Amino acid sequence: MLSHSLVSIADLDAADITGLIDTAVSLKKRGPIKDFAGKTLALLFEKPSLRTKVSFDVAMYQLGGHTVFMSDKEVGLGQREPVRDAALVLSRYVDVISARTFAHKTVQDLAKYSTVPVINALSDEEHPCQALADLLTIHEHKGKLEGINLAYIGDGNNIAASLLLASALVGMNINLASPNGYEVDVAVQAKAKEYAAISGSKIVITNDIREVAAGADVLYTDVWASMGQESESEKRKKDFAGYQVNTGLFAIAAGDAILMHDLPAHHGDEVEHGIIYGERSVVFDQAENRMHAQKAVLYKLINT
Ligand code: NVA
Repeated sequence: MLSHSLVSIADLDAADITGLIDTAVSLKKRGPIKDFAGKTLALLFEKPSLRTKVSFDVAMYQLGGHTVFMSDKEVGLGQREPVRDAALVLSRYVDVISARTFAHKTVQDLAKYSTVPVINALSDEEHPCQALADLLTIHEHKGKLEGINLAYIGDGNNIAASLLLASALVGMNINLASPNGYEVDVAVQAKAKEYAAISGSKIVITNDIREVAAGADVLYTDVWASMGQESESEKRKKDFAGYQVNTGLFAIAAGDAILMHDLPAHHGDEVEHGIIYGERSVVFDQAENRMHAQKAVLYKLINT
């Protein structure tokens, strides 16, 4: 059960996820409210951001609260200032911290030392806020999560890890196809399989994109090179050749399959040019739902 902080999807149980989705749905209907008057969120970002930064900022504003944004140039986590000290200092000023870090351990340490809740706004290993927005989006478009067949095609990265854990918790079937050597971390796979044994979720991890796409309700992809991996871009382009979500894959998916991508996208690489703007795409609903899902997380973590 979610207690202090949201660092990993593993901090949640199935009831937390369904509760957060319910809260997000109702907050989405309600629009701006002022429940968080006097509350402050610190946004502490080591990596670039469009969606996460703006969606957290607007979420706090619409809830009547306030945000303070700090880039790592100003803070120098672990360099200019130990992570522990930054956590203890920020805890004296703000009510909640949202951190985007390279090392997952940095966000874990912030949560460990902070006396206020910490939200993982993406680390090298996970992106729990994205996975919650994804589940909210699938629920909106498909009316349920349990029994939905999601195919994730591409890098077994932070997005794939959080999506795998979240799907396994709620009983959604998830099939992942990644090139050899780019599969989701084995410890995450093992944890997801434990969750699936309880929820009934079916998990397939393979290199075969047609196997996962056949009959899928959702085709999901993400960039081949994540933030911090830019120097590997050329090698990854070769290694991921053929791992593209395109109209050919939609032809073997379910007739009403939807396209998902957490963005930013490299059009023409992991996703065929143009299809993000097509009728199958729910990509911009996903982006909007970041804000509604994060409002739900803030509600759960901030004691109003
Ligand atoms: N895997 C991507 C996700 C961006 C939201 C990255 O880490 O850069």
